Amino acid sequence: MQNKFEELKAQALLAIKAIKDSAELVALENKLLGRKSGELTNLMKGLKDLGDGVKKTVGQLANTIKIEIEASLASKRRELQTADWSVAMEKERLDISQPSLPPQERGHFHPNTIIQKDLEDLFSTMGFMVLDGPELESDYYNFTALNISANHPARDSQDTFYIKGHSNWVMRTHTSPVQVRGPQKYGVPIRAIVPGKCYRNEATDVRHEHTFYQLDGIVIDKGINLSHMKGVLEAVAKHLYGPETKVRMRPKYYPFVEPGVNGEVTCFLCKGQGCRLCKKTGWLEIFGAGPMHPNVLKEGGVDPKEYQGFAFGFGLTRLVMLKYGIDDIRLLESGNLKFLEQF
Ligand code: DAH
Repeated sequence: MQNKFEELKAQALLAIKAIKDSAELVALENKLLGRKSGELTNLMKGLKDLGDGVKKTVGQLANTIKIEIEASLASKRRELQTADWSVAMEKERLDISQPSLPPQERGHFHPNTIIQKDLEDLFSTMGFMVLDGPELESDYYNFTALNISANHPARDSQDTFYIKGHSNWVMRTHTSPVQVRGPQKYGVPIRAIVPGKCYRNEATDVRHEHTFYQLDGIVIDKGINLSHMKGVLEAVAKHLYGPETKVRMRPKYYPFVEPGVNGEVTCFLCKGQGCRLCKKTGWLEIFGAGPMHPNVLKEGGVDPKEYQGFAFGFGLTRLVMLKYGIDDIRLLESGNLKFLEQF
């Protein structure tokens, strides 16, 4: 009897090992342990016919064998389940990786934008707001409010583009309308700059273009005088061309400032010695400026008896040409990639 149990155990364990899928497992489980005619069940049924002495030992053996077979079946079941899972997962596998795109060419700023952003940063550190004004401007803001009345000769030097049927609109000839728009909108005291596009009706050549950039600025407060103006403009000059740079201001007429000045800085190329860039003068003209004219302050809603101010205007395009040694202004608006890709 004992041998029969041992034999059955050996065969059963071998058969379990050979199982390949869950159907086979269920079948074998039935064949061995089935309640009615399982092989082990049948063998165990025979125990009751044994004599008392043997019954106990064989009975214990039979039980251990049953437990061993059950454990072996259970471990086979786990093994099959894991295998089933990996098959299912492999079937449902989703490839979510994306083939990489061909390298994109990166754009970059236009040289105008590089200088504009640089100056916006500098003026922000000095407490200036960066404002924007319309490029299609009213005759009033572009000229009249800036102390340039209808028949003023200054209009001749700033001929621009007009809109058919709208005689009071012009493409702005400078960024100076901020001198009136700024205080009108934000009140005083105020510190603001306006960088942007300007237009003039020019016969174009290496030095003249119908579209170009300027940067105007204003400071209006109580007790503002010429030394504040010089201080700000010197800070800009030193920022652009280094700490040794000097600023020179000479009288020049601009209708909206009184007195108007023509601002020059020592040539950064020859350090003031005189060279081709500065036409042997040692100086580069880069801005116009002056204390704001009382009429302009009034147009901005400011009482000139209480407040003083100064205004300045940089030729942004000129700064770009000087910085990069560009000798033909027309390249800047040309959209020519051979030119633009150098920056
Ligand atoms: N608007 C002048 C021009 O286009 C430049 C200018 C000169 C601006 C003096 C100013 C200034 O703000 O004070 O020629």
